[in-house]
Amino acid sequence: MEVSELHKQFAAIFEAQADQVFFSPGRINLIGEHTDYNGGHVFPAAISLGTYGAARKREDRLLCFFSGNFQEEGVIEVSLDALDFDQDHGWVNYAKGVLHFLEQAGHVLDSGMDVYVYGTIPNGAGLSSSASLELLIGVIAEQLYKLQVDRLELVKIGKQTENDFIGVNSGIMDQFAIGMGADQRAIYLDTTSLDYELLPLDLQDNVVVIMNTNKRRELADSKYNERRSECKTALAELQTVLDIQSLGELDVWDFDAHSYLIQDPNRLKRARHAVFENQRTLQARHALEAGDLETFGRLMNASHVSLEQDYEVTGIELDTLVHTAWAQEGVLGARMTGAGFGGCALALVAKDKVADFTAAVGRHYEEQIGYAPSFYIAQVAGGTRILD
Ligand code: GLA
Repeated sequence: MEVSELHKQFAAIFEAQADQVFFSPGRINLIGEHTDYNGGHVFPAAISLGTYGAARKREDRLLCFFSGNFQEEGVIEVSLDALDFDQDHGWVNYAKGVLHFLEQAGHVLDSGMDVYVYGTIPNGAGLSSSASLELLIGVIAEQLYKLQVDRLELVKIGKQTENDFIGVNSGIMDQFAIGMGADQRAIYLDTTSLDYELLPLDLQDNVVVIMNTNKRRELADSKYNERRSECKTALAELQTVLDIQSLGELDVWDFDAHSYLIQDPNRLKRARHAVFENQRTLQARHALEAGDLETFGRLMNASHVSLEQDYEVTGIELDTLVHTAWAQEGVLGARMTGAGFGGCALALVAKDKVADFTAAVGRHYEEQIGYAPSFYIAQVAGGTRILD
């Protein structure tokens, strides 16, 4: 969306000029899935699909929100003195959560705001539209209230909103990728220490194709929290013998040698995924740095198999997309991305094969599933920022 269009939309709704306009990206995760709440590594990147925002400070204590995606809802008004969760407030709860936790951290929000948002991330696609919105609101507040808040604090407040306001026990990957992303860089993050590196994403003659199942995924009603607690129990079983704080500390040999401690076959599979996926992420980082995209692609494939067989978070739609992708010419690798249970998958595809690829995968998916998938070429872009 053009900056001038954002200003125009804001002015049409609020009959005033916006103080500033902003953009907050979505994210893809190249590899390292369901490892962030297991103390492992992740390898996401911010993308050019995301959430635009325009905002202005008010004189009173009202917060007035309008979404260009949900125009029928009109302007949703909330008092700065009533920042609690309200089912009827839908997406505005993410904004309320961020403002609530900013205040709780001691930041002063001295008056209300008018906020216009417009998202280009397809709804429920698993490209982190909620984290995109959280960081957008965080940066809007930082700018309009002139807060002294560093980016990592905003990232953590986004996660806190998800965990303690919305009720999804997610890890830190999405908010981190969105808050810290950089142009043409993937983020290699250790989720225990929060040490990270921005690594050049040189894909040579290939692109990342995002494949959307068009099956909606809601973290709140998925098995996300269940997987998380299965891993927690498996960790506790391993801790009866091992001195570890997370599954991410184990290499595959240590894990194999102690896996007898896990008393349930499903839990064993969940933990095995967490350990092996973390190790695959370390290998993927080396492969990328060495320019070895074939190895990178094979690791993506192995990641999907593990998420399908051991973690069991894929489902027929994601499996159909990914398995069909594997069979196409010019594909180095493909896997689901994000939480799973629908949402999107990624494929690393030779540039000159993309048209054939999307035609073939689209046709097969529609035959099998009954409706069409969507495809987008991922443009890796910067983190949440001021546009004007
Ligand atoms: C969601 C969560 C992340 C992460 C992924 C799975 O996107 O928000 O924290 O756990 O699922 O890797």
